Formats: sequence, C-alpha cells, structure tokens
Amino acid sequence: MEGLTVTVNGQPRGIQDAKPHTTLLNWLRDGGLTGCKEGCAEGECGACAVLVSRPDGRGGTRLESVNACLVMLPAMNGQEVITAEGIGSPGHLHPVQHEMAVRGGSQCGYCTPGFVISMAAEYYRPERRDGEHHTPNGFDIHSLSGNLCRCTGYRPIQDAAHALGTPPEDDTLGTLRTRPSPTVQPTHLTGPDGEFHRPADLPEALELLAANPDATLLAGGTDWGVEINIRHARAKMTIAVDGLAELRELEWHDDHVRIGAGLNLTEIERRLDGRIPLMAEWFPQFASRLIRNSATLGGNIGTASPIGDSPPTLLALDASLILASRQGEREVPLSEFFEGYRQTKLGDGELIRAVKIPLPLAPITGFYKYAKRRFDDISSVAVGIAMELDSNNVSRIRIGLGGVAATPIRALKAEEALIGKPWTERNVREAAALMGQEGTPLSDHRASAKYRAAMLEQALLKFFFEKSEAVRG
Ligand SMILES: Cc1cc2nc3c(=O)[nH]c(=O)nc-3n(C[C@H](O)[C@H](O)[C@H](O)COP(=O)(O)OP(=O)(O)OC[C@H]3O[C@@H](n4cnc5c(N)ncnc54)[C@H](O)[C@@H]3O)c2cc1C
Ligand code: FES
Ligand code: FES
Repeated sequence: MEGLTVTVNGQPRGIQDAKPHTTLLNWLRDGGLTGCKEGCAEGECGACAVLVSRPDGRGGTRLESVNACLVMLPAMNGQEVITAEGIGSPGHLHPVQHEMAVRGGSQCGYCTPGFVISMAAEYYRPERRDGEHHTPNGFDIHSLSGNLCRCTGYRPIQDAAHALGTPPEDDTLGTLRTRPSPTVQPTHLTGPDGEFHRPADLPEALELLAANPDATLLAGGTDWGVEINIRHARAKMTIAVDGLAELRELEWHDDHVRIGAGLNLTEIERRLDGRIPLMAEWFPQFASRLIRNSATLGGNIGTASPIGDSPPTLLALDASLILASRQGEREVPLSEFFEGYRQTKLGDGELIRAVKIPLPLAPITGFYKYAKRRFDDISSVAVGIAMELDSNNVSRIRIGLGGVAATPIRALKAEEALIGKPWTERNVREAAALMGQEGTPLSDHRASAKYRAAMLEQALLKFFFEKSEAVRG
C-alpha cells in the first residue's frame, strides 16, 4: 500500500515505512515529540498519554486521552493525535499547563505531560458540569487515575485540576470539537515483520480471518500492546476490528440489550448512561480512564483471562455472546464460552461480534472487586451478583466469579442454596460458606488461595448487608 498519514498537532505526517508493531509512542518520540514519555510501556503510568480525536455521535469530535505506548501506529492511519506540545507552548501555556505550573504540580516533570493530557481531556469533556463529582468545577479526579507521579505528590496536581474553568468560546482545541472527527481508514500493510490489516467491514474481516485463522485480532490494544512491549510478542498478521461498524452497535430491544464487542468501555458507559446498574457499578473499578478509553468488551472476553472483570459482571447478567464467522452467526451463553485456561469456544475464523444481555434486568445487583490497589489494578477476586426477590424469597439469582478458577465461573453452589429461599441473614451466611468453597483458587503474587476463598464469602455477606438496607429503604 501507499504510506500512512497521521495528523499530529494539526499537521499531517506521512509515514512510508510503518511497521505493524511500532507503537504510536515510539513513532512520536522518534519524530522529536519527546513530551510523551515511556515510563512503563504497559499502560500503568500514563507518562505516554496523548489526545485522540473521536466521533461524538453528533457529527462533532471528542478529545479523549489514551496510552500511546499501547497504540499500534498503523491503527492510527488517517487519525488525529494531539501531544502535550500541541496543547500550549512556553509563553502561551494552556490553562491546564498554567494551573499545573502556578500550583506547583510538577517537580522532575517526567509525568507532567501525561497529567496535562489527561487533565485536558477532562477539561474538554462536554458533559462536565459544576458540582458534578462533588467538585466546584465538575472535574472528575478519577480521570487522572491512570497517571502516576513519583515526586510531586498528588495534592498540588489535584489543586490544579480543581482550579480549571471551562474552555472559552474561541479556544483552539475547544473549537476542534465542533468539526467532524476523522473517519476510520481501511489499512493494509505488509512488511518484513508481519502484516497489518484494518478491513473496511465485517465481511472483509471474516474473509481475512478465515484465510488466516492464526491472525491476531486487535481492538483497543490494552492487552496485546503489553504483550508486544513487555513480552516482545509479534504477530504474523494483525487484524484490527475495533473500527468495524458491525462491532460498534449498541441497541435496546424488547427482551435484550446488544452491545458491540468493538466499543470501548468509556463509550459503553456513556451510551448506557446507568441503565444497566451492575455495569455502571463495575466501570469505574476497571483500570483507569486512559485504559477504558481504549479497552473493548470483545478484547476483555476474547483474551479469556480468568481475572478479567467483565465475565463475572456479564455472567451475573446471564449474558450470551454473538460469534460471527464467514459461515454466519451463532449465539453462545457466556457461561459455556470458557472451556479451560485461556481456551474458549471461539472456532477458527470466528470472532466476538456482540454481547447480548437479556431483559428485564434483575433489580438488585452488586459488583465486588478485590485488588491490591483501589484503582488501576487487575482483580485478585471479582464477584458480580444479580438477584430478584419475590416477597423476600429469592426468585432469581446469578453470581459470576473471577480469579478463583482457570476460567470465570458461576457460583452454582451458592446460587442453588439461595434460590426459592427467604433472603435472611441465616440463609445468606449458609450460602456464603458454600461460596467460599467455589472454584479452585490458587496462591500467586496477587493473593493466596485462602484469601481468595475468604473474599468470596465476604462478597456475598457484603451484598446482603448493603442491599438489604437498600431493599428496606
Ligand atoms: C494498566 C492496565 C490495567 C488493566 N486493568 C484491568 C482491569 O481492571 N480489569 C480487567 O478485566 N482488565 C484489565 N486490563 C486488561 C485489558 O485492559 C482488558 O482485558 C481489555 O478489555 C482488553 O481489551 P482490548 O480491546 O484492549 O483488547 P486487545 O488488546 O486489543 O485484544 C486482546 C486480545 O483479545 C482478543 N480479541 C479482541 N477483540 C476480539 C473480538 N472482537 N473477538 C474475539 N477476540 C477478540 C484477541 O485475541 C486479542 O489479541 C488492564 C490492562 C492494563 C494495561
Ligand atoms: S509508558 Fe506507562 S502508560 Fe504508557
Ligand atoms: S513530577 Fe516527577 S514524577 Fe511527577
């Protein structure tokens, strides 16, 4: 193919020799934009953060922050990126840079461009309203949860965030939001270290996959990017699926909601707008805003990690998956999808097209995640629960578990102990003891087997005490 083009800070840059595994971060830095830094190369520190232009669904543009270390350069063909250098300059500081400077938000400065980018994304977030998130300027401090600072301390950074106003009418980047964002560009790249394809539509993607069943699917890159950077994994062929319109639908039907596997978690959160309360409770506990701006539901399920957070949530919601291949589509209950450690029912040439959640939803739900850090961490144990009571008897209950077996599982013993029984402390304590025996938890660097079993028990008790209060009102 001809070269790729990426617009950086308003200037289109041609790339003639792009390689499938080059990261956006390395390319930007090689091109002299050294504001973005490599701190960890695995999505944990935010030093590499950049803004990308994305459609806002109304013909305009949203400016969203992503980890450039996890973005593959060919995936950015035709797209627009803004780095810290494009936000402001010495003598013409952007309001975010100004507040960071005058409030002492920077010492060594290594983390600062990344903080500035995450802060700018929040500054331009159209839904930001006074008083939201209990801050006078509506700034969601969790938008910075993917940025680490090792020397300044977070207080002055937080002060800078809370001092920000709203963008003035003539703000250059603010105005950018009124223009349409770049469209997804089909891309085909063949080089000595592999091929990269961004197909134009689902049929083309399925043709490619049928002919190359060993190809690696790329969505948000938050798992695959880590494999590339840290484990030096390389794919003979990469097929990007996150831009496929067929994987980006979110539809409400009478008896189910269908969520496209290629939508990232921020988009899903925004588009559901709290209408699936269990997912609304789960989203903020997943990684950081930087990661959620890229990570897709399809990627989270497709990696088949036993500690992924979406399976426990979706098992509780009794979800099924729509799998697509050149032969057509089939529906598989999520509870039957995982067959063993990192093994699934996905056949050769098949991908996850959508997740289907049956309606009506069970009204009482809870998500409990036990991890070493409150934010931006993978689960040691995760528990999703969805329940319905009929005159205080449990008429329906689904409990999804992560981190206690080779695959995500349902807590069948605890479910069975509760179904049809009165929702009382005694019955719940009995079920919780059984829940502590679910799965085959292992001891590893995250948690011991004993701790994991204890947390299972605790999660059900916590659900009882929290939600019984809510039920009693
Ligand atoms: C710092 C950090 C924090 C994280 N925190 C969490 C966390 O709190 N909870 C959690 O669960 N995970 C977490 N993760 C893991 C990761 O973000 C998620 O698994 C994410 O959902 C992966 O989605 P993706 O779109 O980025 O996948 P990608 O990296 O693009 O793809 C990963 C793999 O998924 C498969 N895949 C992708 N799309 C499809 C599809 N449509 N059909 C079939 N297979 C597909 C392919 O095999 C692909 O190689 C974290 C990762 C990082 C780097
Ligand atoms: S370099 Fe640390 S998140 Fe990218
Ligand atoms: S200022 Fe040094 S790491 Fe943040």
